Amino acid sequence: MSPAQGGSNPGFARGRRLRSTPALRRLTAQTRVAPADLVLPVFVKEGIDEPVPIGSMPGVVQHTTDSLRKAAHEAAEAGVGGLVLFGIPAEKDAVGSQADAADGVVNAALRALRSDLGDELVLMADLCLCEYTDHGHCGLVTPAGVVDNDPTLDRYAAVAIAQAQAGAHVIAPSGMMDGQVAAIRKALDSAAYTETPVLAYAAKYASGFYGPFREAAEGAPRFGDRSTYQMDPPNADEALREVRQDLAEGADAVMVKPALPYLDIVRRVADAVDVPVSAYQVSGEYAMVEAAAANGWLDRERAILETLTAIRRAGAGQVLTYWAVEAARLLR
Ligand code: PBG
Repeated sequence: MSPAQGGSNPGFARGRRLRSTPALRRLTAQTRVAPADLVLPVFVKEGIDEPVPIGSMPGVVQHTTDSLRKAAHEAAEAGVGGLVLFGIPAEKDAVGSQADAADGVVNAALRALRSDLGDELVLMADLCLCEYTDHGHCGLVTPAGVVDNDPTLDRYAAVAIAQAQAGAHVIAPSGMMDGQVAAIRKALDSAAYTETPVLAYAAKYASGFYGPFREAAEGAPRFGDRSTYQMDPPNADEALREVRQDLAEGADAVMVKPALPYLDIVRRVADAVDVPVSAYQVSGEYAMVEAAAANGWLDRERAILETLTAIRRAGAGQVLTYWAVEAARLLR
């Protein structure tokens, strides 16, 4: 080593040595993000002729079935790992009937995508009632306005079967009712869908970062909020209990949601379990980067890839992100 490089022991370590060229940094990178790790959330709306842009999520739309089919092909071409589907029905009612109607918007879309793509992309069905109920809550509501846990489980069971029948590869319950994974597992098994996995939104927090999604999915609660069923942001140990409980009920994989403000939870869950852990980079996380970039306040692509890397570094195997297709193209 030449004296110019500090050949004599200078008394400190030279961390810069392995950072000196892009190739060295690439070779020694500890975390990688691959297109196949990314899952694209999509919205499909009944009764529209053209895709409808979502104001608070620039670049994201409510799809028609046709535009969704096109978007799914593009996602497959970009090498994205999967899609998670949300449906917005034309008619909502107290029990969310359209969630398990065989010709309901999301079930029809699942059938179309499955026949277009076969097994090329993992098709995940978000299982919840909030997009389908007129009151906007994730479960059935008593006359007193309380979200009623146990009767909701029967609805989730019916929806799970309808989604599996429609071609979903994975059922992803996001309603945060106690016992939902057990109810869904039992229903799937009894309908001979023993091979259909359940990805549980196990640690889902009552988050302010879901704001833009409620415009996208038209599922804002008409009264109250979701704090009696989604987790309280100050709690961390409870996330581990929720995860353990969902695994005991038969979940095949678990999710933490949101992602960026909850990286500590992602890490703790990843360290605690031996199943795949995914993290959902939610609508508000998307919107804040888009808004800052639109103002010229940060480098958009750099920030996007940095957030995805951070979520993977925290221990998530899969990342649900509205940037899935764009990020997959950047990563290739
Ligand atoms: C509904 C659901 C929500 C999201 C995914 N599924 C909203 C909520 O719980 O209020 C949020 C996703 C996002 O913000 O991108 N159960």
